[in-house]
Parts: sequence; structure tokens; C-alpha cells
Amino acid sequence: MSYTSDPTSFPEPVDLSHHLSRSTRARQASKMKSFYKYFSIPGISQLGGGLPNDKYFPYDTLEAKVAHPNRWKPTPNKPIDPPPSDPLTAEANRRDDPPAAHLVVPHDSGVQDPSRIIDLKSALQYGTVQGYPSLYAFIRQFTRENMHPIVPYKGGPDVILTCGSTDGFSKTLQAFSNEWAEGHDPVEERPGLLCEQYCYMNAIQTAAPRGFNIAPVAIDDEGMVAKGPGGLEDVLDNWDFSKGRRPHLMYTITIGQNPTSGTLSVARRTEIYALCVKYDILIVEDDPYWYLQFPSSAPSAAAAAPKPLKSSGFEFLDSLIPSYLSFDYQGRVIRLDTFSKTVAPGCRLGWITAQPALVERLLRVTETSTQQPSGFVQSMIAELLMGPQSSTDPGRGGAADGSGWKVDGWVRWLEGLRGNYERRMCTMCDVLDANKHLVKAGRRKSFDEIADNEDEWAVVEKTIIYDFVRPLGGMFVWVRFDFSSHPLAKQVPPQRLSQALWVFWRTKPYLVLVAPGNLFAPNAEIKNIDAFNCARLCFAACPVDEVKSITKRFTDGAQAFWRIRTVEKINKLLDEDEDAQASGGVDAGLALLNGMC
Ligand SMILES: Cc1ncc(COP(=O)(O)O)c(C=O)c1O
Repeated sequence: MSYTSDPTSFPEPVDLSHHLSRSTRARQASKMKSFYKYFSIPGISQLGGGLPNDKYFPYDTLEAKVAHPNRWKPTPNKPIDPPPSDPLTAEANRRDDPPAAHLVVPHDSGVQDPSRIIDLKSALQYGTVQGYPSLYAFIRQFTRENMHPIVPYKGGPDVILTCGSTDGFSKTLQAFSNEWAEGHDPVEERPGLLCEQYCYMNAIQTAAPRGFNIAPVAIDDEGMVAKGPGGLEDVLDNWDFSKGRRPHLMYTITIGQNPTSGTLSVARRTEIYALCVKYDILIVEDDPYWYLQFPSSAPSAAAAAPKPLKSSGFEFLDSLIPSYLSFDYQGRVIRLDTFSKTVAPGCRLGWITAQPALVERLLRVTETSTQQPSGFVQSMIAELLMGPQSSTDPGRGGAADGSGWKVDGWVRWLEGLRGNYERRMCTMCDVLDANKHLVKAGRRKSFDEIADNEDEWAVVEKTIIYDFVRPLGGMFVWVRFDFSSHPLAKQVPPQRLSQALWVFWRTKPYLVLVAPGNLFAPNAEIKNIDAFNCARLCFAACPVDEVKSITKRFTDGAQAFWRIRTVEKINKLLDEDEDAQASGGVDAGLALLNGMC
């Protein structure tokens, strides 16, 4: 399918209502919620809604000290560009107490237009399901104009605010799958979920109890593979119907994949999208790390994002690999975004972007579950970004002058975060790179015999312990060990060596806790065959001046482990692990390289 940047050339999104679950198909609009539109008639007296009186909300205002959007230093969009310099950022980075703005969400903003009000009177009241109107309007516009300036179906996508991506995914599964139970429902009805071979397990744990047959697809350094053995085409063409229906849903993390940090190129997206069209699959794109794309890991032009058909208005956003939405001429992409990694996980705030007919069904699911995200969070974020909405509005936003960050400030904030995480990633990868070999200097006996014991016959042997690919995005480095090079490889199976290494890292002086690969294996086969070779390191949470030393502790631990030569020592570590697990003890000072999810 080819299209231009002219929206009149876009096709209508296709009707995907056959994918709706029975309960979602049966949902009617909430009678009470449909009443809300009348609340805003000027001067209307409220006898209809069951609303508590806002005068009795115990919060008069919400106030906070918040960062200026240029607090952190960006990294270049192209590796060859000089680092951007901003004297204010440099100043902020030098100080322990960087400049901050005083944010105020007032009780009553005095603003009349409901789509612009930001105050507690409205935010803490029952509200509209798609989200707090002012924030919904900001996010909708940002999504349509700046994040995805082209979504090639008529009318473009709509959004609905969620309580984070976990909530967004859970609602998506409710909307597009029937629950299935073994022994109760026929196997032909069992739903299937395609996912990457290593996967963010929270998503699998959301799907598995609904009876989903989890169908992992092979990955490479980019992410999901389209063609070849174990690739998407192979899985779908050779589907084993004795295990259930051919999957109609795909869960995929396309940028900085958790855990492998793969970042899917435009070419691969095009191939996978075409297969999803062929097999009528809905793509759930979970993309919490989209703004964390690291040009320094991709010096070649091939891995870079192509020039967009239409600019977002920001060089930074234009430089990012675009979402599946940019190829979605049929409207089969349901994209999950979150504020968890751009503001804070505790916000529990995010949004779903999809074709309007699908968003409408998700709205019906929301009406009877969360209703809307917390008004505290929505108003704080709305005020931060948008600020006061009239000259008499007593609110104050996140910019230095009391206005809001606006879109420019938000994009600048994302650039600064990318800078901070990219620098950490580089530091961690440099240390990993420098220490992946065990270097042994010695003399070979065979040489001694023929070489008259000359000193110059001393040899240096390099054994590779692990390898990794510098992440193109995200918060993780996926490290793959080669246990066949361990001196005890012939006596101890790799699964046991891997488990012992994990324990060893937790001992002094190494004291690092990494996330073992088997935490991310979506089925037993992957767990037993390969996962023990892998570990995920999260550089994001390490204090900036400790990334190097913590990573060195990790590599020192690995090197020391490769010097263990007795099976007894391995057995002792594993016995200690059982003891430690029984007592639940954790050493103080343990560095966490696993993130928390
Ligand atoms: C791929 C992925 N999806 C979702 C989440 C959680 O997102 P949220 O906090 O918005 O529920 C995470 C958190 O680590 C993640 O890595």
C-alpha cells in the first residue's frame, strides 16, 4: 500500500468489530456518563448527577516545585552532530538545587471552556471517561500532530487516557478476547497471543490467566523476525490448530524492547505489518521507551529513521523511528503510551491510540472499570504542561514564568531524559565491552617443548565470557553468556552454572542483582533451552556517577566466576542460594541492575 502525505488520499480504517469479545460487543454506553455533556451548559443547576459538593474536597490547591523542561542535557540526534549546548542546562547541572518552578493547581480556575479548565473543582469531581478534558485535548493533539503526524487512514486516530500501559493492555485484552478455560471451552476457541521470544512478563501474566495460548516469535537484534524459521510468517503459516485458534492479537514492544532492547527498523515494521494484514491480526504496540532511541549506538545510516513524510515540527521527534501507527492504513494498531518513564511510574497515567471505532469500545470498558485516571494526577500534569488558561486563572504551570511547558517544553524534557539515559547506556556498554574476555597470560607446554623455553613464546589466551549488542533504545542491556567456555562446562550443566553465577554476583565484593533471562521466557521451552544464557541489566536506575563502578562489579564477578575450578564451589553457591531464599535475606548495598519490572 502506498500513500502520500495528503490525508484525502487515505483509506477508511477497516471494520475490525469481528475481533471484539462477547462482553465488549454487548456493552452499551453508560446512561449516566452520557449525561455529563449537559453539565457544562452555562448557568445550569445540577440536580441530575450524584456528585459530591466540591466545597467539601479537603484540598484547596495542589502545589509543587517542578523542574524546568531544560533541566537535563540532550544528546545529539545524529552521532556526528556536536552535543547541543544550553547555558541554562549547564548551570542547572552544576547546582545541587537546580532552578524549579512553583506549580499551582487552583481550586477554581474561573475558566468557562470545559476543554480548557484545570482546577480541583473539576479534576477531583467525577469526570469524562476519555480523560480530563484539557489533558485529553493536549495529548490528543500531541499524539496526532507531533508523535504520529501521519497515520494513513481517514480521520486519523483517537486517544483515551488510561492508568498506565498495564491498565491499557488489560483493557485491550478485555475488549478483544473472550476468556477461555481448559476443559470448559472448545480448543478451537482458544485465543492466541503472538509476542517476542523474550518478553515483558507482566503482559504475559495478564494474558495467560484469560486462557491465551502464548505464541512466541523468533527475535534478532532488532526485535521480532518476519521471515525464516520461527519468524512471524513461519509461526502463522504452520499454525498448529490443535493448540487453539490462529492468533488474532500481537503484543509487541518495538523500541528498546524489554528485556532485549531490540529496536525495530522501518523495513521490518513494513514486513510485519503486511503479515498482520494477511492474517487479520491486531497489533498491540507497547512503547514506553519510544523517546529513548540512542543514535550513538547506530552510527550507520541504515539503522536510522528515514525522513518522515510529514514533519512533527521537532527535529528530535523527526529523528525517531516512527510507530507502527505510521504504516497503519487499515487501523489495526492499538498503541500503548505511558507517563511512567517520562514523568514517574507512580502517576499511573498513560493513553491508548487507535482508530476511533476501537477507542469507542475501550471507552465502554473504561466506563465500568477505572472510569478515568486519578484527578490529582491528571490536573498536576495538565497544569505542568498547559499552565493557566486565562489572565485571571490563578493556576501556575511548570515554566519559569508560570505558564505551562507547552509542547516545546515537553519535547525538550524528553530530549533531556534521552540524554541522561543515553550517557548511562554508553558508560555501561563501554565497561561491558572492555571486560567481556577472560585474559590468561601463560606459556603453552607444547610450545615449551619445541621452543627452548624462550620467553617470547609466552601466550595470551582470550576466552569470551559474554557478548551483547549496544542498545538502540530503552533502559536495558541484554547480555548473553557462553557457559561452554567455563572451565567446568563438561562437569556442570549450563543451567546450574548460570544459577550459581547469579548467586555469586550477590556476594561480596560484587553485590549486584541482575535479572536472569528466565524471568522473560514466555514458555517452558524457551526457559529450558536458552534463557539461562541471558541476563538483563537495567542502567536507568544506577546513580550517574556509579554506573561505571557498578558495571565493573558485574564484570569482575563474571570474570571471577570463570576462574572457579571446583564443582564443590558451584554446589556450595547453589546450597547458599537455597538457604538465602529460605531466610529471604538481601545484602545492604546490593546494586540493582534489574529495574523493578
Ligand atoms: C514494555 C513495558 N510495558 C509496560 C510497562 C509498565 O508500564 P506502566 O507503568 O505504564 O503500566 C513497562 C515497565 O517496565 C514496560 O517495560
